[in-house]
Amino acid sequence: MMSQKIKTAVFPVAGLGTRFLPATKANPKEMLPVVDKPLIQYAAEEAIAAGITELVFVTSSSKRAIEDHFDRNFELESTLEARGKTDLLADVRGILPKGVNCVYIRQPEALGLGHAVLCAKNVVGNNPFAVILADDLIDDNDSGCLSQMTALHAEHQCSLLGVERIDPNDTDKYGVVKTAASEAGIGKIEEIVEKPKPDVAPSNLAVVGRYILSPRIFDILEGTGKGAGGEIQLTDAIAGLLAEEDVLAYEFKGRRYDCGSKLGYLTATVEYALKHPTLRTDFLEYLRSYCLPAK
Ligand code: UTP
Repeated sequence: MMSQKIKTAVFPVAGLGTRFLPATKANPKEMLPVVDKPLIQYAAEEAIAAGITELVFVTSSSKRAIEDHFDRNFELESTLEARGKTDLLADVRGILPKGVNCVYIRQPEALGLGHAVLCAKNVVGNNPFAVILADDLIDDNDSGCLSQMTALHAEHQCSLLGVERIDPNDTDKYGVVKTAASEAGIGKIEEIVEKPKPDVAPSNLAVVGRYILSPRIFDILEGTGKGAGGEIQLTDAIAGLLAEEDVLAYEFKGRRYDCGSKLGYLTATVEYALKHPTLRTDFLEYLRSYCLPAK
């Protein structure tokens, strides 16, 4: 088989974000900022760092702000230019580097993550592709989780899922995999189940929001009915893929923040603020004074 590079990443951003209501009633969850960048920008930067040039967003009617974020804003740019704010201008212009294209597809109804991925079928075509869930923010202090995965894909040429060990009591929040003995954090998946109860979960190895998938997944998704929660689940289609092709689970390096939950989002905000070059010192001082009892 000819070695295929991953050039396209799909960003399913059409979910309802109910855990963040009312903030997400009219604003996309993926536009929530962690310090000064929205979640979707961190996700796009991770994809671009991995060599992705086609960003495919699966959106819905309340997600227009995402298109605006990756588009030019001439009024803002000319004002920043006139005021000599060159650093901010560079930040704004640098959101989408040259040579990277965005495509937007509507998911007419929030029928589930599997359905959202299927909406990208015609744009992705017959090529392996990445899927990134922006609400899983992953910090690896290096080139990014997706870069780790595209490097592995170049070696193994098969589908790969980013996985992480979770508290065994939390299996009913994730897709959970069972792998054959894993080497260096990579194991062939033998079983995958969506949101199993802790007493029947095959392991505590949970799938988080990073996937590299073979295009065969689209045909399988077309025949996948509603699963857990009445949604068309990507996990169920991956279970079908396993029967035909190798799918690897990869315990990526880096720290993941579940920014789809309030606690995960707040944790990310504090930790990113503590790493921010101009904010760090003052924020640390504030946190110390807030947390330590007054003498
Ligand atoms: P979540 O399970 O986090 O759902 O979806 P959600 O709607 O975003 O948030 P809650 O649980 O109601 O708070 C996982 C990912 O799949 C996308 C979401 O946008 C998120 O990135 N998704 C989910 C879709 O694009 N379409 C869907 O129909 C469902």
